[in-house]
Amino acid sequence: MAGSADHIKALVRSHATGDDASFYAVATQIAAQEARKGHTRLAKDLKQTIEASRAEPVARRVTPIAQPRGDLADLVSASFPDVSLRDLVGPPELLDQVRQVITEQRQRRTLLDRGFVPAHRLLLEGPPGTGKTMTAAVLAHELSVPLMTLRLDSLMSKFLGETASKLRVVFDAVAQQRAVYLFDEFDALGGDRSSNDVGEARRILNSFLVFLEEASPESIVVAATNHRAILDRALFRRFDLVITYGLPTAKEAAAVMRARLGPMAKGIRWSALSKATAGLSHADLVKGAEAAAKQALMRGDERVGADDLTVALAARRAASVGHA
Ligand SMILES: Nc1ncnc2c1ncn2[C@@H]1O[C@H](COP(=O)(O)OP(=O)(O)O)[C@@H](O)[C@H]1O
Ligand SMILES: [Mg+2]
Repeated sequence: MAGSADHIKALVRSHATGDDASFYAVATQIAAQEARKGHTRLAKDLKQTIEASRAEPVARRVTPIAQPRGDLADLVSASFPDVSLRDLVGPPELLDQVRQVITEQRQRRTLLDRGFVPAHRLLLEGPPGTGKTMTAAVLAHELSVPLMTLRLDSLMSKFLGETASKLRVVFDAVAQQRAVYLFDEFDALGGDRSSNDVGEARRILNSFLVFLEEASPESIVVAATNHRAILDRALFRRFDLVITYGLPTAKEAAAVMRARLGPMAKGIRWSALSKATAGLSHADLVKGAEAAAKQALMRGDERVGADDLTVALAARRAASVGHA
């Protein structure tokens, strides 16, 4: 048994350093050890698995680099979000759409081999704080790929005049490194900025659409916007899927707060809170629940009271009205 523990440690170490040669050397040793113990079926099985995975092209086997390098590093930030589909609260149709994308991406080989293209170009639209960025994170997490986030508005102001060539760098990465690429604040391209910018924005939008058309289905391109109205309707057709987000229903609002509060929410009568939650976004509700929980804890209570929530939610409402 001590032998196997050492083997496992060696496997983990070689995995962490990306040392393929020693990883397979250790795996082969394990197979040999099993063979000596008389476990011939297991040994043979192991050897076959090792051979098969060695034969796979490196790009698909090795977890890709954690952080983008070179030109790309200035344009995107990479993360590995830890948020799953279970955490996303929304109407069943919305959750089905997200689930569908995950399933198609998981089975993309089967689809592509038969000439079908998995959904990989998504437009997410709806009010702030309703789960658009979160959905991009969920997709990355569920597919075990990095989330690459770009902010178009900063891309445009930072690289004025060369945004189109920067976009090429990003879409090259889309083809080379499987990931979720989130173009947040997508409306920066369609919005009516100061009149000077409009021509430039149009040009960038057009090159974005050309790149989008050709985008590799190995990655997912997600465009997110809070401002549906200012986007050209024709734009919607360029995406495989348009997902529309909205403010939560009373039931969804309760689910969001319950998830955030966990056992602290025991005993809350959610139906009595529907007036307090109306009109607030998911993000507002999370923040309100957090504020209420802190109040309760600082008072020495292990549970949140309905009053804590009512007060905290009213404060959120005042804050978000102040923002609009
Ligand atoms: N649909 C949702 N379900 C659960 N939590 C949500 C949802 N939408 C937003 N949240 C919470 O609010 C935070 C901010 O939401 P985000 O996805 O950034 O909103 P958006 O991108 O639509 O403005 C999330 O990290 C999450 O904690
Ligand atoms: Mg967002």
